[in-house]
Amino acid sequence: MIGVFDSGLGGLSVLAALMDALPQADFVYYADTAHMPYGNKTEEFITRRVLEIGELLVAQGCTLVVVACNTATAASVQILRATHPGIPIVGIEPGIKPAALASATRRIAVLATEATSRSDRLARLIREHAENVEVRVVPCPGWATHVEMLQLNDPALATDVRARIEPLLAQGVDRIVLGCTHYSFIAPLLADIIGTRAQLVDVAEAVARQAQRLAGDFAHGSGRLQLQASSCPQNLPAALPRLGLDRIIPRVA
Ligand code: DGL
Repeated sequence: MIGVFDSGLGGLSVLAALMDALPQADFVYYADTAHMPYGNKTEEFITRRVLEIGELLVAQGCTLVVVACNTATAASVQILRATHPGIPIVGIEPGIKPAALASATRRIAVLATEATSRSDRLARLIREHAENVEVRVVPCPGWATHVEMLQLNDPALATDVRARIEPLLAQGVDRIVLGCTHYSFIAPLLADIIGTRAQLVDVAEAVARQAQRLAGDFAHGSGRLQLQASSCPQNLPAALPRLGLDRIIPRVA
């Protein structure tokens, strides 16, 4: 069984890519809805939750874990790996490398939570993969919570998104990296604002390919999916159609 987790609904964008790549695998998805958002929490808090969720997934029999959250990966993927050395753990990090490689203007931006924006791991990623590229790191407080509350068409969100994106485009940014899995669900809003002036970079499918490579025998199960949450688990299946994920069907048996 493959365990996938996030602070809330955002990681469902990664789960969808994983289920496409591994249609026969068994999945359990855990949303830490009692503690969402992670983006305004300390590294210590996030690490404690990541280790607790890791224990919970391993105790349920997960033999591969996907951290479908940039914030949790930046804060804690290393300690999670060290705690479970026998279990492959796939994290998600903003697609700085593909964006830097593809940028014609040599200017890219990454949209992320506050915690990811200030993380050492993001700074290192930029140093390693975007040496000759200008990178604007844009913290986007509140965006993940709007997605979590399914307020995708809220005019206040649209105003805030436009206010953060227009200056980037005016500065010649031509690749905009989605550095938080919740932001995949506002990609249509972002695309409306951006038009043909830039392209969005989302690495959900690349993460799914990495999990596919590591899955081995775990790729062959009976296509089961359980959705779990630390608060209000009934909201997860209800959210799927609202997020355009009607094709994800929780199947326990
Ligand atoms: N979805 C998460 C990420 O990828 C975190 C959102 C949040 O809880 O702040 O960073």
